[in-house]
Amino acid sequence: MKLIRIFIFLFAFPVFAQEGGMWIPSLLEGMNEDEMQSLGMKMSAEDIYSVNQSSLKDAVPHFNGGCTSEVISPKGLLLTNHHCGYSQIQSHSTVENDYLKDGFWAKNLEAELPNPGMTVTFIKEITDVTEQVLKGTENASSEEERQQIIEKNKQSVIDSSPKEAWQTNRISTFYEGNQFMLFRVETFKDIRLVGAPPSSIGKFGSDTDNWMWPRHTGDFSLFRIYADKNNKPAEYSKDNVPYKPKHFLPVSLDGVEQNDFTLVFGFPGTTDEYLPAVAVEQIVNTINPARIGLREVALKEQDVFMRKDQQIKIQYASKYARIANYYKKWIGESQGLKKTDAVGIKKAQEKAFMNTVKAKGLSKEYGSLLSDLDKAYAEYEDYNLAYNLFSEAFIRNVELLRNGFQLYQLEQVLQARGEQSFNDRKANLLEDFKASYKDYNAQVDEKVFEKVIAFYAENMPEQFMANNLKSQNKLTLTNNIYNNSALTSYASIEKLLEGNANDAVKALNEDPGYSFVKEQAQKFYESVLPTYRNKSLEIDALQKKYMKGILELSPEDARIFPNANGTLRVTYGQVKGYQPRDAVEYQPVSYLDGVIEKYVPGDYEFDVPQKLIDLYNQKDYGQYAENGKMPVNFIGTNHTTGGNSGSPVIDANGNLIGLNFDRVWEGTMSDIYYDPSISRNIMVDARYILFIIDKYAGATHLIDEMKLVHPKQKGKNKRKDKKKK
Ligand code: ARG
Ligand code: GLU
Repeated sequence: MKLIRIFIFLFAFPVFAQEGGMWIPSLLEGMNEDEMQSLGMKMSAEDIYSVNQSSLKDAVPHFNGGCTSEVISPKGLLLTNHHCGYSQIQSHSTVENDYLKDGFWAKNLEAELPNPGMTVTFIKEITDVTEQVLKGTENASSEEERQQIIEKNKQSVIDSSPKEAWQTNRISTFYEGNQFMLFRVETFKDIRLVGAPPSSIGKFGSDTDNWMWPRHTGDFSLFRIYADKNNKPAEYSKDNVPYKPKHFLPVSLDGVEQNDFTLVFGFPGTTDEYLPAVAVEQIVNTINPARIGLREVALKEQDVFMRKDQQIKIQYASKYARIANYYKKWIGESQGLKKTDAVGIKKAQEKAFMNTVKAKGLSKEYGSLLSDLDKAYAEYEDYNLAYNLFSEAFIRNVELLRNGFQLYQLEQVLQARGEQSFNDRKANLLEDFKASYKDYNAQVDEKVFEKVIAFYAENMPEQFMANNLKSQNKLTLTNNIYNNSALTSYASIEKLLEGNANDAVKALNEDPGYSFVKEQAQKFYESVLPTYRNKSLEIDALQKKYMKGILELSPEDARIFPNANGTLRVTYGQVKGYQPRDAVEYQPVSYLDGVIEKYVPGDYEFDVPQKLIDLYNQKDYGQYAENGKMPVNFIGTNHTTGGNSGSPVIDANGNLIGLNFDRVWEGTMSDIYYDPSISRNIMVDARYILFIIDKYAGATHLIDEMKLVHPKQKGKNKRKDKKKK
């Protein structure tokens, strides 16, 4: 016995014995239950995920395909982040009723606002279907044939697996193609807006505080799921009724302290935890600097205008926030990867991997894997850089270029699919343009264009640039386009596209803005895209093999969790502060006092509503205070990523204690390398949410439909809110 263990210890590479992890809820029992209970959890795996009885998963739907949300009342009341409900809140806003600025609180069910097209999706059952999906692939003669077999198998599993008429089956891929899971899901389509705090609470601190601790944001909004009379999903109808959930989360009034157990349940989007060192190096040295640099020049130009013009400020607020969000994240990510020496650690892991491969006599299978990866990533680098620069410049940050690129695709539709498709696409595009040009300012865009194109020309490998942009005078180029192109307003684009398809395309090609985009786009399609795609496929196949090796060769108890892929996951940890740098210690909980400390009257990021200041001055916190103070946010060691926004934070007993909405700056490299000493997620304290709903908004009818509990003081007097004088 002892000998065997020593043997395993010697040859098992310590490799991916990392902490963190995003776990599949149906597999917790074998993998995680013991550890979760040792961290303080009082529930069983079955309480979290069960097919036959109601469990936590029945309260946690995917929110409109991107964020996460949770049901917090027997009447289908749904909680998510303010930034997740942002576009819905915006869509109901007008100058007279600006819900982004002032907040919104439906007085009763009738006043709740429908959101056509919006959905939330519950997971009913998760089944491992790997064997069925891979059946017959052993004999495939090529990767292509293998993929065809897999696609066919997937379809037949989807078609043959039982489901109710109103449900859907879908399959997701795990471990880079080594595992497949079937999800039986239920999608609700009548989702109404119930409440949102003003942005000065819901988005307090905005971009300055984004990705940062200490944080003081009330990042929440409320919706409600409506169902038909049989409690089944249905399209919007005024006859629909509030959904009666299979489970809803009670809300804890007892708050958190350092080391408390926390479970975050949600739909993390993408992570890359098993990249080889060479790939991480490429991100740190080449890709992140390029996309950070390009976004930086765009943001800088926008900011100049936004600061001196209120109208532009409003028009560009949301665009600016979108660009700034990942700009800031990538900076933190690169710093974190360097500081933790992620590359060095990955290299050591790879060495250990190779030793194990040799020791186990698996050189034939895995012997050249890592050098193949090195080679593939080296060949990929320029194409990867070009791909990122092109997407940042032509698809994301310059509006004229983005619109021009969409028109370029429109022209291609004509060639590929004919006039009818062209006309359909044109109509849709014009519709989009009509909306987006409302918030367009040609002066701002012109400046952004000039600086972004200069950056692009400077950083794009020369062989991928049409008409060598480097030598051209950017100011002249820019002036010429913005003085003469029709792409600078909706009216002129509409006019440009008038008439039949051939006329429209002819006019397009005579436009200087369009011609510029087309020239660069064609060059990109010819010289970058084909190789970029081939290399990506080659790398995917190698990553899949590497993943297989890691799974095979790691010790039984190693923590090999599948990368995030937008499916429901459990992550858990503890409430914990951290040391961001030498001699600085962060506490895990922030308070309303900190909101007041940051208060800058009239500032677009740090203004505070008068009512909140009054409540603070009177210490009118009702039953939500902790020793006379109002908790606002807290942090923990839960491993989260984009998509976990709006995820419930659940205590040891299954009660809601918080709402996930962000991560700390120093730890954002956790998408690639999770470091337990500095990776933290940021959550809104549930008591702050209740306090804002109750005391700030006076929406006590919403509090009344929730179930508030005191899990930490069982037996003690339940109501202890002191009456104010
Ligand atoms: N950083 C958070 C998340 O990715 C919040 C983003 C929204 N807030 C903002 N200021 N842009 O996505
Ligand atoms: N704000 C992110 C989201 O929208 C969550 C933060 C993160 O990336 O961890 O999902």
